[in-house]
Amino acid sequence: MPSHSESVSRLGLRSPVIQAPMAGGGDTAALVAAVNEAGGLGFVGAAYLTDAQIRERARDIRSRTALPFGINLFAPTPEPPPVPPAVLAEALARVAPFHAELGLPEPEAPAYAGDGFGRQFAALLDSGAAFYSVTFGLPPADSVAAAKARGMRVLGTATTVAEAVALERAGVDAVVAQGSEAGGHRGSFIGDPAANLVGTMALVPLVADAVGVPVIASGGIMDGRGIAAALALGAAAVQMGTVFLTTGEAGIPEAHKAAILAAGEQMAGEAAAGEERTRVTRAFSGRPARGIVNRFMDMVEDPQAPGAVLPFPLQNTLTRPLRTAAGKAGRAEFLSLWAGQGLQMARRLPAGELVAELLRGTEAARRGLAG
Ligand SMILES: Cc1cc2nc3c(=O)[nH]c(=O)nc-3n(C[C@H](O)[C@H](O)[C@H](O)COP(=O)(O)O)c2cc1C
Repeated sequence: MPSHSESVSRLGLRSPVIQAPMAGGGDTAALVAAVNEAGGLGFVGAAYLTDAQIRERARDIRSRTALPFGINLFAPTPEPPPVPPAVLAEALARVAPFHAELGLPEPEAPAYAGDGFGRQFAALLDSGAAFYSVTFGLPPADSVAAAKARGMRVLGTATTVAEAVALERAGVDAVVAQGSEAGGHRGSFIGDPAANLVGTMALVPLVADAVGVPVIASGGIMDGRGIAAALALGAAAVQMGTVFLTTGEAGIPEAHKAAILAAGEQMAGEAAAGEERTRVTRAFSGRPARGIVNRFMDMVEDPQAPGAVLPFPLQNTLTRPLRTAAGKAGRAEFLSLWAGQGLQMARRLPAGELVAELLRGTEAARRGLAG
């Protein structure tokens, strides 16, 4: 296995810290630029952006930093199978009371809008990004070839060894090993995603042993101790999401930031384990994703009354008006409060200071181990 510093330079990174792509607005141009300027690698989660929005975001980033950045897409999404009318009716009925509570019109049956991957990828190719990453599947072969022809590094997300091996065969330059602690969507694409809940501690060394390309550890890493641990497990770098959500530059609603920070503040005086505050749910998008448990999650994905969640991306389309309105109204109980299991370690900091602290903390942890 190449040494950690060989892998870092092989990937064109300046440090092991990668700010995770976070589709949905978390990863603003200001966040990406601040992370870059402080020595990390900033990423844009562009899955929900149009091609024009991707071009605009990339322009905005380039106007703030000359350093390399990455863009992430969801692998092409096939049309979901037809939804039985009873499931559709139940899905609409489950969401309707929340619409009423927020003064929105009745929810409408969502339609599959087609797959925008081709147009998004064309914008990515022209964006000036140095890294192209994919989650939810393999990057299409022609996209790997086209990105590499432009000198981009290609990354893919795996939640199991089988997915990591498949990604390596597809030609990625590095595998992001996403443990089950991770906030946001699970990148799983082989087998049942609900059965793929391998933690970062087990997944990273398994993947490092199974593939020849560098491994990027992701999930539950919140400080220098976590980064040093990931490097010890065989990772070349780490991809961190939740810790960046409470920086000033993160573009999520303030109610989401407050919910993450509250988890840490409440923990001090409470017996309930903080990690119970998050759960993997399909309630918001139809795909498993980890977020802080709230009323919407409990009622839509009620284990006593299952069968009310549409397949991705239909559930995502169904719940979008509600999430948008809830963000504006500051109503955390209806928001997808994506966060990983390490959320109690989140702190409110400017992103540049956070990266500097993470790098210092990593060195301190490594020195401590060596000593
Ligand atoms: C709000 C949020 C949005 C995310 N969106 C994406 C995304 O668009 N693409 C992606 O590959 N990963 C996404 N992730 C997952 C991250 O890449 C990463 O695996 C995860 O944040 C790591 O766990 P941590 O949150 O405990 O650091 C998202 C995570 C969060 C918290």
